[in-house]
Amino acid sequence: MGKVGGIILAAGKGERMGSPLNKVYLPLGDDPVIVHSLRVFENSSMVSTYVIAAAKSELSYCRTLLSSYSLPKLAGIVPGGDIRQESVAAGLKALPEDCELVVVHDGARPLLTKEVLEGGLQRAQLSGAVVVAVPAKDTIKLVEGEKIKATPERSSLWLAQTPQIFRRTLLQEALDAARASGYQGTDDASVVERLGHRVDIYPGCYNNIKITTPEDINIARALMGMPVTESPEPLVRTGLGYDVHPFEQGRPLYLGGVRIPEETGLMGHSDGDVLLHALIDACLGAAGLPDIGHYFPSSDPRWEGASSLALLSITQRILAGEGYRLVQLDLVVAAQKPRLAPYIEQIRSLIAAVLGIPVTSVGLKATTTEGLGFVGRGEGIACWAIAAVQKQKKPSL
Ligand code: CTP
Ligand code: MG
Repeated sequence: MGKVGGIILAAGKGERMGSPLNKVYLPLGDDPVIVHSLRVFENSSMVSTYVIAAAKSELSYCRTLLSSYSLPKLAGIVPGGDIRQESVAAGLKALPEDCELVVVHDGARPLLTKEVLEGGLQRAQLSGAVVVAVPAKDTIKLVEGEKIKATPERSSLWLAQTPQIFRRTLLQEALDAARASGYQGTDDASVVERLGHRVDIYPGCYNNIKITTPEDINIARALMGMPVTESPEPLVRTGLGYDVHPFEQGRPLYLGGVRIPEETGLMGHSDGDVLLHALIDACLGAAGLPDIGHYFPSSDPRWEGASSLALLSITQRILAGEGYRLVQLDLVVAAQKPRLAPYIEQIRSLIAAVLGIPVTSVGLKATTTEGLGFVGRGEGIACWAIAAVQKQKKPSL
């Protein structure tokens, strides 16, 4: 069998998580969920390369976030589709031609082990189609409305996880056939099975959970040996940040990571998000670190057009590396226009999600300057931020 290529799926909506930030980017310890999911692919010598399918609207976030990691096997980040199969198909198209075996893995499964991945790959090299799965522990009921219709024999029920591994030609054929007939499966094997092809089970591990609903983050933390609830240290340090950006015609306006429609955007090397830049400086200042320009210099092409929301996530990791944890933020945005009140809650919850802190710990107010000064003349937007951090008892895991 030829080379093995991975497709990591991250293009879903994460509806069941109900978070303003896609679940695959939520912090799990010091790194976002998806980074944990990628590690096994980076560390397995059986995998040559892999691609990520990300939501179109999150491509910039994903690219910027991952640019701060060393991921030598990452061959590309491509826009996924509205349904899982279309995301798989987009990933498959982007995989180098010489990948004969394809392994599909959920970006939302951060606990896959190298043993399971490589065991599954070895099995697939023989049989051409393998699903990692675990035997059902609970009895499973077939239900219609509230009425039980049937109780399938438990001993023959397995719970399908990922990785799911297929010969490339087989997966391509199955995806084409599913698309042609409008079939939608909830996993990748089902499109192959319906062609009448044999697909084998490879016994996986119960720990390989999929981050799906809010409690899964704490379950994953526990499985990874991290404290589920953190006990804060008493010492609090604070930092202050201030930033100003002028308006620039023709650019989209981003404030606090939220795209404000139909408004003139701000000048800047990155996305010009003045609010997040002030916040990043406040966070760095609280930890006694140099300013935003030190970590994300505008001379570095990596940060050109960067998503400032992802820069905030990277900043949190820089702080964690110094042993600091963010506890509370407060921001004031001075803008004569646009009116920001309709966006305040969205911005607060997005920042809280990126940083993994409660939304009640993110303060945000907007004000005009009653027509005074450069803000009042509508030339630009200014923002002040303060951040409070605490030293963690132990360095973060
Ligand atoms: N996925 C994808 N493209 C889609 C749908 C899902 O790449 N059109 C990815 C998700 O990002 C996730 C994995 O497939 O990593 C598993 O899917 P699921 O747990 O269902 O994630 P979501 O679809 O994001 O969540 P939900 O169903 O709750 O909206
Ligand atoms: Mg889904």
